[in-house]
Amino acid sequence: MPAIVVVGAQWGDEGKGRVVDGLAPQAHVVARYNGGDNAGHTVVAEGHTLRLHLVPSAVLHPQVVCLIGGGVVVNPERLVEELDELAGLGVDVGPDRIKLAANAHIILPTHRALDGAREASRGKQALGTTRRGIGPTYADKAARVGLRAGMMADPEGFAEQVRTLVETHNRLLQNHFGLEPLAAEEIAARYHEYARRLKDHLVDGSALVAETLEAGKTLLCEGAQGTLLDIDHGTYPFVTSSSTVAGGALTGLGFGPREVARVIGVAKAYTTRVGAGPFPTELLDEIGQRIREVGGEYGTTTGRPRRCGWLDLTILRYAAQVNGLTELALTKLDVLTGIDPLRVAVAYEREGERTDRFPAEFGIEALARWQPVYEELPGWTEDIGHARRWEDLPPQAQDYVAFVEEAVGVPITLVGVGPDREQSVWLT
Ligand code: IMP
Repeated sequence: MPAIVVVGAQWGDEGKGRVVDGLAPQAHVVARYNGGDNAGHTVVAEGHTLRLHLVPSAVLHPQVVCLIGGGVVVNPERLVEELDELAGLGVDVGPDRIKLAANAHIILPTHRALDGAREASRGKQALGTTRRGIGPTYADKAARVGLRAGMMADPEGFAEQVRTLVETHNRLLQNHFGLEPLAAEEIAARYHEYARRLKDHLVDGSALVAETLEAGKTLLCEGAQGTLLDIDHGTYPFVTSSSTVAGGALTGLGFGPREVARVIGVAKAYTTRVGAGPFPTELLDEIGQRIREVGGEYGTTTGRPRRCGWLDLTILRYAAQVNGLTELALTKLDVLTGIDPLRVAVAYEREGERTDRFPAEFGIEALARWQPVYEELPGWTEDIGHARRWEDLPPQAQDYVAFVEEAVGVPITLVGVGPDREQSVWLT
């Protein structure tokens, strides 16, 4: 059986975790393909609430092997912490279950310090990063000076490389940003321990993926963040530093496009964004506030309030285009209950000119000159949290979903109607 890619269709936080969770029972390997501990996913297990940042959330499905792929950047401290927490709940986190691709890159404390320093130096132009060291780690990867997870197979050699790179970063921190250096020896010693702890989890990620697919088993690829945060195709420079789009699954995990059977885009029934950058359908009024409160729109990783706004169908069309979506999952429809009328952006307009496309190619300043064109749709007041079948949804909610499907041109196969796993209407 083939590969299934789950990708965020907006600016992240779309609820990819629940889609992965729903598909996990049919998967053999679930693999994260991009990003790092900037991502966050809340999992409730054995009555405990866990916030996972690196380990794929499907870890709670006992038959699944979890792979942290080569396209990911890994903070080993966080990974060890997550493994310990999961082990404490009785979850098997042994090397046979949790695999770390040898070509993933390693985040150092100095990467985090540089991330913070760069943000601070940007002042009002700050990107609003999660300050987890994501950008500087990918920058080192591209500059070919980064540390790969595979180096941890030799903890002594790895610690030495860590010390050298920390010293390089320290020079930058001191000379360019006027900051204090970090303690290289102490960091090297800690990373030596992480290496001893994690080295048995190392794997040739591409080989594991190939074996899985050759054996006819299902590979579920879990993207982090969303299409508009993609380093190439997002609202640059207000993006993250990885390939969040479906193509990132191929480069991040090391397999070819012929294997991909399904590409599932996940979108909220409205739009949110964390951090700075353009957001044309943002609501700065009480409706935005209401969506934030009802939807619990606060970041899993940083706790920051998310910016909220109307659904933008041009973004979803764009996501369908750059990811080759075969289907769409629409989450958090219940959050819109009680808002009437609802608005959705269907196009953009500028000085009499109109386009059905999200004007991404025109850059940030140009984007500000385009105004969204809205259509109004009737809202509903019924509680839809109990809906499990299409027929259970009130006609206005059905119309909203049908309108989105028609406008995007991709079938909607899942509608989320509440935070619990069961609160889903599967339309397959
Ligand atoms: P970075 O990934 O920490 O460098 O942050 C770059 C941008 O991506 C910022 O606007 C962040 O708020 C955003 N971002 C990073 N990870 C996530 C996520 O998991 N969900 C939503 N936004 C994210």
